[in-house]
Amino acid sequence: MPAIALIGAQWGDEGKGKATDLLGEHVDYVVKFNGGNNAGHTVVIPTADGPQKYALHLLPSGILTPGVTPVIGNGVVIDPEVLFAELDGLVSRGVDISGLVVSANAHLIAPYNRTMDKVVERFLGSRKIGTTGRGIGPTYADKMNRIGIRVQDLFDEHILRQKVEGALDQKNHLLVKVYNRRAIAADAVVEELLSYAERMRPLVVDTSLMLNDALDAGRTILLEGGQATLLDVDHGTYPFVTSSNATAGGACTGSGIGPGRIERVIAVAKAYVSRVGEGPFPTELFDADGERLREIGREFGTTTGRPRRCGWYDAVIGRYAARVNGVTDFVLTKLDVLTGWDRIPVCVAYDVEGMRHDEMPMSQSDFHHAKPIFEYFPGWNEDITGIRTFDELPVNAQAYVNAIEGMSGAQVSAIGVGPGRDQIVQIRPLI
Ligand code: GDP
Ligand code: IMO
Ligand code: MG
Repeated sequence: MPAIALIGAQWGDEGKGKATDLLGEHVDYVVKFNGGNNAGHTVVIPTADGPQKYALHLLPSGILTPGVTPVIGNGVVIDPEVLFAELDGLVSRGVDISGLVVSANAHLIAPYNRTMDKVVERFLGSRKIGTTGRGIGPTYADKMNRIGIRVQDLFDEHILRQKVEGALDQKNHLLVKVYNRRAIAADAVVEELLSYAERMRPLVVDTSLMLNDALDAGRTILLEGGQATLLDVDHGTYPFVTSSNATAGGACTGSGIGPGRIERVIAVAKAYVSRVGEGPFPTELFDADGERLREIGREFGTTTGRPRRCGWYDAVIGRYAARVNGVTDFVLTKLDVLTGWDRIPVCVAYDVEGMRHDEMPMSQSDFHHAKPIFEYFPGWNEDITGIRTFDELPVNAQAYVNAIEGMSGAQVSAIGVGPGRDQIVQIRPLI
């Protein structure tokens, strides 16, 4: 049976958590393959006491589905303090977390990585990235620089100490001499990391072996991406990106599954676009429409609480996401937020200093100067939050979805019409 990748098509916060939750009952494993607690996935689950809202950061959203084995893959960076706080929070709400497994090869966010993230952002001033300040970039930098600390190092104090001392040898020079900060003592870092070792030990397995065995045995695996295509370190709007591969390729390297195993690539896209942090965003709105999208769509960060920048749907980005991920299906979320506009603009191409670009410009400078070329679609006023079939949607909403599908390079297979688990218009099965 197959592996399925589920990724974000835009700049994050498309509703991946909800989409994962939706697919949860049809899969046996949900694997987080990239990123860390920079992610914020909101899942709203109906219960007898009304809807229950969960905000997940480091854990895969699949942890909320009974019977699913949640997996933190090797491509993830783990802040152990956050991991156990998040698990404790779920336990206190009655969620069974006993199935969780963690890759021995995942890297750990050490306290000095968090410090570096914040110090470097402050140092950059107006050139800052607008990171979440969770230590993500510095931890991936250590990984690539081959001075990272991995989960398995928690179980060998000698090696752990050697590695922490090695990493701090470099960083303390930077902290003291460049950033004018106090040096960090290796002993304190080692002690803090070791304090998590015993709780971590029973969670750690060879996740690549486990997942490949599961596929051989006919199980279904959902590979859940954090962040999104345009935040991907290779394919995103570099340098205004996160530091991991959030695209479908990252699902392989971040989990230890071969590409041939992935049968379907589901991209989650909002019916408009949002972005948190700095960086170019051609369809961004600075007017009352942007404010209205933010208010109705509740576009405030799940992780940092920052107001999200909002803009109209960008089909150039949609096509680009379809291409670099090999998207087979789109889940188009938050269509309900567009209810009530007379006409809805969709960006179909860019104008870059008089030249039309139908595809993502090759250079970042051109993308910075891209002005959207809009087509306008008639809006609808009917409340669509209770609609469950495509045919019941207002004809203008149907036409909007069809137009987006036509421009974006893959079929739209489900449409979100509200935050709740059941608020979905399923056009065809995703699994
Ligand atoms: P993620 O990071 O991609 O998982 O997305 P977030 O959870 O950060 O942000 C998506 C937000 O939109 C959450 O608050 C969801 O509850 C909400 N949401 C998801 N799908 C829909 C939808 O179809 N309609 C509405 N109104 N809200 C949605
Ligand atoms: P989910 O999984 C939206 C953004 C940050 C910043 C940039 C780099 O909820 O979609 P980092 O801390 O990763 O080094 O910050 O990436 N960013 C996100 N934006 N959703 C996310 O995750 C994000 N994770 C990181 O705002 O611009
Ligand atoms: Mg989010």
